[in-house]
Amino acid sequence: RMSELRFDGKVAVITGAGHGLGRSHALSLAERGAKVVVNDLGGTLDGTGASAGPAADVVELIRKNGGEAVASTDDVATPEGAKAIVQAAIDAFGRLDIVVNNAGILRDKSFGKMSVEAFDQVLAVHVRGSFLVSREAFPHLKEQGYGRIVNTSSPAGLFGSFGQANYSTAKMGLVGLTKTLGIEGARAGIKVNAIAPIAWTRMTESILPAEFEAKFTAEAVSALVTFLAHESCETSGEVFSVGAGRVARVFVAEGPGWSKDDHTVEDIRDNWEAIMAEQPYLTPTTLGQQTATSMKAML
Ligand code: NAI
Repeated sequence: RMSELRFDGKVAVITGAGHGLGRSHALSLAERGAKVVVNDLGGTLDGTGASAGPAADVVELIRKNGGEAVASTDDVATPEGAKAIVQAAIDAFGRLDIVVNNAGILRDKSFGKMSVEAFDQVLAVHVRGSFLVSREAFPHLKEQGYGRIVNTSSPAGLFGSFGQANYSTAKMGLVGLTKTLGIEGARAGIKVNAIAPIAWTRMTESILPAEFEAKFTAEAVSALVTFLAHESCETSGEVFSVGAGRVARVFVAEGPGWSKDDHTVEDIRDNWEAIMAEQPYLTPTTLGQQTATSMKAML
């Protein structure tokens, strides 16, 4: 079929691809012709332990299906690990086109019980890991004047979630990384987007209702990731909710606002309803655009 989205000749790095969503992204891209670096540390859900098994199993499955893949068991959260992951793509396939930052861990605790370690380690894998792997990939993408990066945010970060102060902080942090990298990558044809998925994986099987298993598949999420990774996708700096059959743009918006020169504390109290209003909203795509809106309101 002429219109099928293919990835022949393209090389993708997918972090955390030994299980769940990452595994499914790797299979989807490989099935459409991409050569894939299947990275996975192979630890438990909370990030402890390590095993070469999960990454090797996915590589074996891709090869059995006629695709090309190599395994990496490097840790995304260390500079050496991130470097080795990108180097694996260059060594095995000679180039890099696509990065899917998917690796993640959970250390849920209510805020009063959240340890510094649980906070730091969750940010290290999600935020530092996505930064480090993107940072290693960036020069390669820039040089060829084309690239795609897909980061993995979460509704828990976008909207808040009890017991996930560390994870929510990390996942909203990835929205900032996505937006700024989208801006900085624009001139080099590098498109950067983020997904906020819901799917039945080992991360969610104990919290989602049992009837979600059949509908909230990893494959449904991978369809969006695969599109965002394709050269024909021109969108950048955006975030998309995806779960079961539904895909929706999530945007950071600013309400119309209320303004008055030299406003007092009481002015703010008395105009709270106008300050809280959502319509008509604006969706600035850079810091500069937002600042210009504030300037205009005061002129
Ligand atoms: P998963 O636990 O099956 O997959 C995460 C993978 O990342 C694991 O295979 C793990 O070994 C790997 N990993 C962890 N730390 C690593 C490190 N330092 N270096 C390399 N690999 C590492 O969970 P799932 O659900 O597939 O999660 C994938 C991503 O999607 C995560 O970023 C998660 O936060 C995110 N997400 C998942 C949702 C869901 O509904 N399943 C909801 C929102 C976000």
